[in-house]
Amino acid sequence: MLPGLAGVIKKPDAVTEIRPTAVYLMHDVIKVREAKGVAFQLRVPSLRIDQGEQIALIGESGSGKSTLLDMLAFILQPSAAGAFRFRPGEDEYPVDVEDCWQNKKLNRLGDLRKRHIGYVMQTGGLLPYLTVSQNIGLSRNVLGLKRDGTVGHLAEALRINNQLKKLPADLSTGERQRVAIARALAHRPAIVIADEPTASLDPYAAENVMSLFLTVAKEFNSTVILATHAWRHVRELGLRRLSHRTTHSQDSSLTETVVNG
Ligand SMILES: Nc1ncnc2c1ncn2[C@@H]1O[C@H](COP(=O)(O)OP(=O)(O)OP(=O)(O)O)[C@@H](O)[C@H]1O
Ligand SMILES: [Mg+2]
Repeated sequence: MLPGLAGVIKKPDAVTEIRPTAVYLMHDVIKVREAKGVAFQLRVPSLRIDQGEQIALIGESGSGKSTLLDMLAFILQPSAAGAFRFRPGEDEYPVDVEDCWQNKKLNRLGDLRKRHIGYVMQTGGLLPYLTVSQNIGLSRNVLGLKRDGTVGHLAEALRINNQLKKLPADLSTGERQRVAIARALAHRPAIVIADEPTASLDPYAAENVMSLFLTVAKEFNSTVILATHAWRHVRELGLRRLSHRTTHSQDSSLTETVVNG
């Protein structure tokens, strides 16, 4: 190189990859469930879920989908964990979930769940004596959040805005599922966990509800983790599928599922 050029030629800028915040980080997490000599073990060697991701967990009945979702919602304590961290957003401190379980900081876990997680249960879990509008607004009320039009907006986005005064018993199954989804999103949680939210719907209605759900969750910037049987829609809707392998012992007394992702 000519001596005069040494100071002129610039080194290329270092390529810095900006990765979204990891909402969940798990290493070597195990949950054992056992009753009457029949044991099930869920093993998670390594799992990372980033902010804003939409994740699908697909597996046969009894393969541990609800078990994993309940651990992610801090409802179920792992039997053992190498590491289990949770960070709802980049402005929030990471939480050592395993430490909370070990040291019985259950109020802390409950508080994290209430503020940052919305859970759509398989059965809907709507309160029968509250109207649709009151059911949707429940999570906001519990947190003391002001009325800001979110309930109405969600009802419109999920096409249940003409059902707001009804009780859950006066709704169709698909409408009930959409109310449960609206309720899980109403406090604008960082994470929405949904356990087979469309299981009781016909395939056309399931695809419709799923697509409305994912669209609203994206608008709210929520990370979505859902268990589903709707194999076909997962690919079409662009969800990331967690890898999942289930094996049974010869005498069927032990089933093990390994999840990675
Ligand atoms: N409280 C419990 N005590 C003992 N075993 C349990 C308990 N709850 C669930 N299991 C067992 O753990 C395994 C996983 O159950 P889980 O509910 O996570 O499955 P799943 O994939 O959600 O199934 P489904 O698709 O039917 O909802 C099953 O074999 C189940 O029998
Ligand atoms: Mg289940």
